[in-house]
Amino acid sequence: LAVITPGEPGALPRVAVEDERYRGRVRLHGQSYSLEISNLTLADRGEYKLEQNTIGHNVHFCDYHLTLYQRLSQLEIKIHPVMAGNSTCNVTFTCSAGEGAWNLTYTWTGPAGGAVLSTKESLLVQHRLGDEDTPVTCTATNNVSTSSANASPKAACEGPTLPQTPALSYCRTKGLLVLGVLGSLLAGIVTAHVLAAREQTRPGEERSFPCAC
Ligand SMILES: *[C@@H]1O[C@H](CO)[C@@H](O)[C@H](O)[C@H]1NC(C)=O
Ligand SMILES: *[C@@H]1O[C@H](CO)[C@@H](O)[C@H](O)[C@H]1NC(C)=O
Ligand SMILES: *[C@@H]1O[C@H](CO)[C@@H](O)[C@H](O)[C@H]1NC(C)=O
Repeated sequence: LAVITPGEPGALPRVAVEDERYRGRVRLHGQSYSLEISNLTLADRGEYKLEQNTIGHNVHFCDYHLTLYQRLSQLEIKIHPVMAGNSTCNVTFTCSAGEGAWNLTYTWTGPAGGAVLSTKESLLVQHRLGDEDTPVTCTATNNVSTSSANASPKAACEGPTLPQTPALSYCRTKGLLVLGVLGSLLAGIVTAHVLAAREQTRPGEERSFPCAC
């Protein structure tokens, strides 16, 4: 990081900052030989070592551990729903405070300041399709701050915009491909219906397709 050389008696020591990352951020405090590093970033945390070489004496070492915490920003809750059969959805919520966040404690609580459900990063909730929602809250804490976020099992399992077709939200990723295929089938079926309708002048029927992933 830096090499400090004592000056002649009465003169200040010389400071040579060897490591580019610390240029302009290092200050030596007069004769006390205290080194100050300013404008810290998380990359500065870790072990620091002082090596003191005195001519004619043994080398002397000191170790310093620098711990840094960053204020938590908004939490992100990742959602992983899996259909478990029998109209039940297993949804795993994972609380994420972003990169650089470490040494966190997590608390998952039920609705309206309810019971503690888990103190792990992830929480598994079983939601029966059509049942009432039971929102959960993740609260993450590090040594300097606290942040929380809410998640809805009902929205995760049934989808916020498609309450009538829960299977769609569950299948959304694979669903696009399936929908493409269904779209082609539908076009074929509609054509067949139109042809049939021309013969019979009967109103067409609406069809719904189960998601097949
Ligand atoms: C520390 O950062 C502030 C704001 O970015 C800047 O104004 C200041 O000059 C910096 N100080 C040092 C010693 O780099
Ligand atoms: C859903 O969760 C229950 C309870 O934890 C578990 O027994 C079951 O195996 C899970 N099913 C799936 C498909 O993940
Ligand atoms: C499905 O849910 C119903 C209603 O809760 C229950 O009676 C039944 O035993 C369940 N079936 C299976 C296979 O879990």
